[in-house]
Amino acid sequence: MSASRNGNGPIVIKIGGSTLGEHDTSLSDCVELHREGRQVVVVHGGGAAVTDWQRRLGAEATWVDGLRSTTPESLEVVVAVLAGLINKELTRQLQLLGAPAVGLSGVDAGTLCSPISERIGLVGETPRCNPHTLQRTLDAGLLPVLAPVGLSNDLSTILNINADAAAGAVAFALDAASLIFLTDVAQVMDAEGTGIGSLNAERQGELIEQDVIEGGMLPKLRAGRDALSCGAEVRIVDGRQPHIVRQAVEGEAVGTALS
Ligand SMILES: Nc1ncnc2c1ncn2[C@@H]1O[C@H](COP(=O)(O)OP(=O)(O)O)[C@@H](O)[C@H]1O
Ligand SMILES: [Mg+2]
Repeated sequence: MSASRNGNGPIVIKIGGSTLGEHDTSLSDCVELHREGRQVVVVHGGGAAVTDWQRRLGAEATWVDGLRSTTPESLEVVVAVLAGLINKELTRQLQLLGAPAVGLSGVDAGTLCSPISERIGLVGETPRCNPHTLQRTLDAGLLPVLAPVGLSNDLSTILNINADAAAGAVAFALDAASLIFLTDVAQVMDAEGTGIGSLNAERQGELIEQDVIEGGMLPKLRAGRDALSCGAEVRIVDGRQPHIVRQAVEGEAVGTALS
């Protein structure tokens, strides 16, 4: 059973862009958990596909601290690829596996809102989740699949939102029992490359300070801490490993747990 303070609350699964397409057993785990009566929310990334489409269109992707800086032109690609292609493809695959999956984005009903970033453009760096529509979707027995785009607080523009930050905000707002980040490494690693089973805030701070934790791992840990503070169990696991989602939900010692 889960050791989470939030008991049988929703399970939020963040599927990383880096493992999209390699997560067949992860998706079937999500569907099975849903069939067993758990509320499951999938939040997806898709950074690699966005970068690929930017290249095809002759544009360059640029990154700051693991976050994509976003111009009005790149926002068009972000929205088309994340809320379009990737969201609909995942929604299709989950239905093929038997779940009543509903594709949503953070734009819909203002589910994700954020101030506009001052340093990296049309990005919501500190998204907040209004969980109303997600909760109603869950209570209707459906399985929401959320694309990480949202609204600026003043509704003046759509924003690109890092999928890790989106998943953290969703887990926080839903009082999730578990937040599981599926990624392409087995664990968070220390300076020697040794996997860390349990990572507390102090050690996390040291490893970030020493640049041992960097890039795409940073937003996971930042978002994970917020979700941990509201009582969710948080794990970063290798999305390529069979049945890792079920193992993580059942509290097995897989990947890196935040403590
Ligand atoms: N200390 C660390 N331990 C493990 N991975 C790390 C660490 N620091 C940075 N990373 C990087 O974080 C990456 C995962 O983030 P990212 O590439 O954004 O994937 P995702 O699609 O899962 O978000 C890993 O592939 C790894 O290169
Ligand atoms: Mg990432």
